[in-house]
Amino acid sequence: MLAPSSDILKWADSQNVAIGAFNVYNFEGIKAVIEGAEEEETPIIIQMHPASLQRGSKPLIAMALEAANLSTVPVSIHLDHVDSLEVVNEGINLGLRSFMPDGSIYNYQANVEFTQLCAKTIKDNEGFVEGELGRLSGSEDGITIKDYKSLLTDPLLVSDFVSSTTVDALAVCVGNVHGKYLSEPKLDFQRLYRIREVTEIPLVMHGASGLSNEIISECIHAGISKFNVNTELRQAYILGMSEAVDQGISDLISVMNLCTTKMKGVVVSKIRQYSFK
Ligand code: 13P
Repeated sequence: MLAPSSDILKWADSQNVAIGAFNVYNFEGIKAVIEGAEEEETPIIIQMHPASLQRGSKPLIAMALEAANLSTVPVSIHLDHVDSLEVVNEGINLGLRSFMPDGSIYNYQANVEFTQLCAKTIKDNEGFVEGELGRLSGSEDGITIKDYKSLLTDPLLVSDFVSSTTVDALAVCVGNVHGKYLSEPKLDFQRLYRIREVTEIPLVMHGASGLSNEIISECIHAGISKFNVNTELRQAYILGMSEAVDQGISDLISVMNLCTTKMKGVVVSKIRQYSFK
């Protein structure tokens, strides 16, 4: 069933686990995430990046909402990295109630103002807001933030950011990056613990592809409740297609099934990682 992100994160908190939030681009992605969650009998978040929306547009959202409605587990549909109030309004008109207004490209004050502006509209519609404090480096869907432009979350700004913007969840930058980690991921756990000390709202880790079991469990211990995964799911999809080509499979349904199975494998393994199974 379609569920609010807040309910899903409350459930995670009550179970001392974290939730996987998976970026999708098409029907195979939606199917893989929901089937993985149903198999593991766990709530899940489906995310769409503006790039997937540009391609899939309104039908992609309608399909995700309907698939969530039909699911046997709670599923929320979340719009990731929203860069304007227009997109928030469009999403609301299409039935979405969970958003990440991303003001991380701005300086602190402008980030607060942008997030506040979007949060007002989202909250007026009883929606859920994730904000980001700091700036993540790395690449996602054609947008690259160079290392030198990245900014770690300042724990001293967290209380002010959370109360000024009224966000329900906070995406943190503690050494995590979008896309492939070019060297062994090294997260600043001390910083994460300090952030946890100053706010009680759920903390979110973007760039969760490529993190080891040890890092994930320490992150959960330090207060992360939502992990965003895109790269590993995309890689699984592409692997499915290249295996189909290598095996000379020309039947399209078999190709799509192979891709879905590969992505579902990632979803199931992440759910188990996030719930210490
Ligand atoms: P990865 O692509 O690194 O998994 O990050 C996904 C993400 O943070 C989506 O917002």
